[in-house]
Amino acid sequence: MKIRTAILPAAGWGTRFLPATKAVPKELLPIVDRPAIQYAVEEAVASGIERVILVTNEHKRAIEDHFDIATDLEHALEARGDIEHLRAIRAVADLVQLVTVRQKEQLGLGHAVLMAREAVGHEPFAVILPDDFIVGPRPALAELMEAHEPAYAGVIAIEEVAPSETGRYGIVMPDETLPTLDGGRTVPLRGMVEKPNPADAPSSLAIIGRYIFSPKIFEVLERTAGGKNGEIQLTDAIAKLALDQAVIGRRFSGKRYDVGSPIGWLEANIDMALAHPLYGSVIRARMKATRDE
Ligand code: G1P
Repeated sequence: MKIRTAILPAAGWGTRFLPATKAVPKELLPIVDRPAIQYAVEEAVASGIERVILVTNEHKRAIEDHFDIATDLEHALEARGDIEHLRAIRAVADLVQLVTVRQKEQLGLGHAVLMAREAVGHEPFAVILPDDFIVGPRPALAELMEAHEPAYAGVIAIEEVAPSETGRYGIVMPDETLPTLDGGRTVPLRGMVEKPNPADAPSSLAIIGRYIFSPKIFEVLERTAGGKNGEIQLTDAIAKLALDQAVIGRRFSGKRYDVGSPIGWLEANIDMALAHPLYGSVIRARMKATRDE
């Protein structure tokens, strides 16, 4: 069955980025020339997604506005003959069908996903965490879709991380009794643990923010109590699902940046600016000048 819907949780506080995120949602901090969340929506669309369900809270109204028509601004640009910018802002409004649901209490990522249950309906769907910005030859979500089969209850993006960093991620437990597929890129999973200490980590393969689920995950989420940090963890629900259903991990080919943290966001901006057709040469010259100073 085609995956048509993607949930984008965007209701977190963005505390790692304060004070920048005091009044501005972290999802709207720009990576070079567009907000971080626009890349996530563009990746979804490039992967064949037709409908995006944004999970927000009362402070995130500006995200919806970004993907809506800006009538006054369009008129002003038209009057000035600024067709380039007019096209750019119109293209954002035309990107995809967007539905917004509110997470009224910040009870965790699993709870945020559960909020989208009604809007998703009874079909498999994707989840994209906008903090994980992935740049590569192919959209990362499309790579998960390639590995997806109707019998799977879950497909999860995975990436090797330094063993000392397991406390920052969900860490998966590969099922070694089953063979890997696609030259090791697709890995059957037995379970997973949210943010374990390095000593307790079942592997050094981390969960990265791209998932595909069957609607069964909602039933499990409904029964999932608070876990790590008292939050309803998506990882705990997937671990339960993996006890009696097929859940697989999928390596992706792009480079990932954690743009919810200042350092990951800076790295993403540097790399994207260097690769930009207009700004790349300017940034390179600036870097050279800095080295020579
Ligand atoms: C979330 C998930 C975690 C995953 C991570 C990827 O954590 O709970 O399992 O590894 O995203 O970015 P968060 O970064 O929201 O704390």
